[in-house]
Amino acid sequence: MATLTSYADYQQRINDFLTAKLDQLAINDPTLLDAMRYGLLIGGKRMRPYLSYITGEALSAAMHDIDAVAGALECIHAYSLLHDDLPAMDDDDLRRGKPTCHKAFDEATAILAGDALQTLAFDILANHDFSSTKDKSAFAIQVKLVQQLVKASGYQGMCGGQALDLAATGKVISLEELETLHSLKTGALLEASVMMAAECSTVATSRDKVQLAHYAKLVGLAYQVRDDIIDITSTEEELGKPAGSDLAADKSTYPALLGLSGAQEKADNLYQQALQALATLPYNTQNLSDFATFIINRKH
Ligand code: IPE
Ligand code: IPE
Ligand code: MG
Ligand code: MG
Ligand code: MG
Repeated sequence: MATLTSYADYQQRINDFLTAKLDQLAINDPTLLDAMRYGLLIGGKRMRPYLSYITGEALSAAMHDIDAVAGALECIHAYSLLHDDLPAMDDDDLRRGKPTCHKAFDEATAILAGDALQTLAFDILANHDFSSTKDKSAFAIQVKLVQQLVKASGYQGMCGGQALDLAATGKVISLEELETLHSLKTGALLEASVMMAAECSTVATSRDKVQLAHYAKLVGLAYQVRDDIIDITSTEEELGKPAGSDLAADKSTYPALLGLSGAQEKADNLYQQALQALATLPYNTQNLSDFATFIINRKH
C-alpha cells in the first residue's frame, strides 16, 4: 500500500489550524463550544484537508491559502457527520471510536454544533488573508472559494446527496441513481478539496482544472464505494463506527446492487481512471496518485 509520506505532517498542520480557530472564539455557551470541539477536533482522518494540501503543493499554491480551504472543508465535513449520525438520519451511536455527539451531549446541542461548524467554515473563508496573484485579487479568489464551497456543501452538493440517500433508504434504485447520490453526498466535498486548492494556484490552466476535476470526481466516487464495502467487511473496532450499519438500515449501496466483488471491481475501475486523468498533468502528482491508492485500500 502506498505510504503517504506527508500525511502525518498535514494532519498536524490542519489540527493546529482548527484548534487555533476554536480557541479564538469567545465563549458564549461553553457546552456548545465543547460540542464543536468534540465534533471537529477529536479523531478524523483529515482526508479532505490532506487532498487540498497535496493538490496545492503539486500546483505551487501558497500553503497559507490552503490552510483556510482545508479548514473550511473540514468544518463542513464535521458538521455533516454530526447531523448524519442523528436519530432523524442514520441514528448511529458511535463515531471515531467514541459516542456520537448527540450521545455525548444531547440532540439539540449536536444540531447546533453542526450549524455553528457550518457557519465557521464560511467565517474562515471570509476572514482569511488570501494572497493576491498577478491576475486575481485576493478578494476575487475569496468570492470564488465561497461559491465553490456553497455548491459542494449545499443543495447542489452534500445536503442534496444526503436527501437522496434518505429517500433511497429501503428502496432499490438504479446504478445511475446510486452514482448521482454518491457523487453528491461524498464526492462533492472531495472534489471541492481538489478544485478549491486549484483555485489558489497561479499555474493551473483551465485544461489542467478539467483533468483535476475528473480525477477528483473519480476518487470521490471510489471513496464512497469503498466506504460502503468496509461497512460490510471491517469490524466496528477498525471502523470506529458501527459495522453493518448500511445493511441494518436497508441503505442503497454499491455492494447491495453489485455484490461485494462487483463493488470492489467498480472501485478498482474508478481508481485506474483516476490515475489516467493524473497522467495528463504536467506536475508532480505522485502524492495524488498515492492518495487514490490509499482510498481504495483503506479499511477504516
Ligand atoms: C466518513 O468520512 C463519512 C463519509 C463521507 C463516507 P471520513 O471517512 O472522512 O470520516 P473521518 O473524518 O475520517 O472520521
Ligand atoms: C455520510 O455518509 C456522508 C455525509 C455525512 C455527507 P455515510 O452515512 O455513509 O457515512 P458514515 O458511514 O456514517 O460515516
Ligand atoms: Mg448517512
Ligand atoms: Mg452515516
Ligand atoms: Mg457509510
